Amino acid sequence: MPNRGETLISPSVSGPAARAEDLAKRYGSGPAAVTALAGVSVEIPAGSFTAVMGPSGSGKSTLLHCMAGLDSPDSGRVWIGGEEITAMVDRQLTRLRRDWVGFVFQAFNLLPVLPAAGNITLPLDIAGRDPDPGCLPWCRRWARPGSCRTGRTNCGPGNWACSARSACAAARSAG
Ligand SMILES: Nc1ncnc2c1ncn2[C@@H]1O[C@H](COP(=O)(O)OP(=O)(O)O)[C@@H](O)[C@H]1O
Ligand SMILES: [Mg+2]
Repeated sequence: MPNRGETLISPSVSGPAARAEDLAKRYGSGPAAVTALAGVSVEIPAGSFTAVMGPSGSGKSTLLHCMAGLDSPDSGRVWIGGEEITAMVDRQLTRLRRDWVGFVFQAFNLLPVLPAAGNITLPLDIAGRDPDPGCLPWCRRWARPGSCRTGRTNCGPGNWACSARSACAAARSAG
């Protein structure tokens, strides 16, 4: 992970990128309760691609949300770069997500009122930082005419092809 400047949290770059231990998560209660995670332990090595595979409804999204600090498990522990995120308060989690975690949502979660470049740089704009130089080629590519189906640079993602929305979400996550 690149050095993103001063943060409250500086996860270690040695060891696994992320780790989960005995995660459990249920949605709802009573007879309608759904167990999404039941004792999941996993280690994601640094510097590699890891695929989480399973049938629809098997808990993949829940696991990724819990491991990215976007949701909290009912029990179990999660570490990102050696920092235990399940022990963090909201403010620490917010900083960690902003500075260290890139997440591409299944439904992309792009802001419809912003054009491509605005969506890509939004997390950096909120943080008051310039884009990482490695992100600039993505920004340029997806801010040019033709990135959306209407051919206008300033239209929101509602008019884009799915491939453009996924690329924009990926670029935002890499910023
Ligand atoms: N917000 C939620 N409220 C209630 N049930 C949910 C919610 N999110 C997921 N679930 C349920 O938890 C289970 C796991 O869902 P999910 O993690 O989305 O699986 P996957 O990503 O593998 O398709 C499913 O049965 C799903 O219906
Ligand atoms: Mg899913």
